[in-house]
Amino acid sequence: MTHMPSRNIMGIFLILLFLIGLRCSGTAAQLVPAIFVFGDSLVDVGNNNHLHLSLAKADFPHNGVDFPGKRATGRFSNGKNAADFLAEKVGLPTSPPYLSLVSGNSNVPSFLTGVSFASGGAGIFDSTDQVYKQSIPLSKQVEYYTTVHDDLVKHLGSSAAHKLISKSLFAVVIGSNDVFGYSGSVKASSNPQQYVDSMTSSLKGYLNILHSRGARKFVIIGLGPIGCCPSQRNQNRTEECNEGTNRLSLMYNEALVAMLHTLKSEELGDISYSFYDTYTVMQSFIQSPASNGFTEVKAACCGLGKLKAKVACLPISKYCPNRRDHLFWDLYHPTEAAARLFIDDAFDGPSHHAFPVNVRQLTAL
Ligand SMILES: *[C@@H]1O[C@H](CO)[C@@H](O)[C@H](O)[C@H]1NC(C)=O
Repeated sequence: MTHMPSRNIMGIFLILLFLIGLRCSGTAAQLVPAIFVFGDSLVDVGNNNHLHLSLAKADFPHNGVDFPGKRATGRFSNGKNAADFLAEKVGLPTSPPYLSLVSGNSNVPSFLTGVSFASGGAGIFDSTDQVYKQSIPLSKQVEYYTTVHDDLVKHLGSSAAHKLISKSLFAVVIGSNDVFGYSGSVKASSNPQQYVDSMTSSLKGYLNILHSRGARKFVIIGLGPIGCCPSQRNQNRTEECNEGTNRLSLMYNEALVAMLHTLKSEELGDISYSFYDTYTVMQSFIQSPASNGFTEVKAACCGLGKLKAKVACLPISKYCPNRRDHLFWDLYHPTEAAARLFIDDAFDGPSHHAFPVNVRQLTAL
């Protein structure tokens, strides 16, 4: 007699907890099993915190001023970044930084919903960074993924692991640092077209390795007009965008779109991808700020000096009260508000922004 009512109450309690859980998570449906993230500071969620010699870090204020708990987590943002919003969209927690998993005594289950290998300062090319350990270049990120792949196979068995991996998203957000790095000695040894072609052919090699380890669904984010970020405008007397940098970004995006098309149509017929044209969308934010909810698209929010880009976003710097109105958080990176708009659009946007399919369509394939 005493057991029945308490069991009913327990049942109701559990249902309530379940419903509250659904409400809190916002997205009830989990659209993919996992997300594996490769890239640079646009999607770093804390890997560089573990690189003790690195200066490419954001684990100090005012970064994170709008993050839950006002914490500086290593994200180069006032709040969440594109990796967080992509995870939210598909109903997953943000993929944890790989280096946080290997430095703790983690077990395989923490890999099951994905891992982030992204690292501030990383590029497609291994640079001298390798020596100074400022960041994890893409070659190393892919190497780390292969160890995760092997662990998944060990833990789940080959068939279950490959089923999980084949339905998961492989997000790649990289290339800005390589474009910024095109100067001096590099410029002398290759022309712009040769340079971007070698970027895409290196990237193709890495996509091939990921494919050989089970990856089938890729989210590839194109470069924005990075000649318009505050660090670049700051170098121009009239605060205009660096046209050379923008041209190189566009040239890379075109080479990237062509490479992806060839990869799927001629080499790896079983992959699918969504390319997001950040360039066009960010350009429209810059050209019509108001219609996208921005009032400031030139200056950074956090920093000091002209365009708040003379001094980076350091604890001594000032930050703006109206983060939602700014396109740029610091001299290189978008605000949380801008990152949210990009991912909303990559997920559900029209086919001239996200193609051949948008990310929602990619998850359903
Ligand atoms: C500033 O940018 C404009 C537009 O790209 C360019 O014509 C001009 O030469 C630049 N000035 C300097 C000092 O770089």
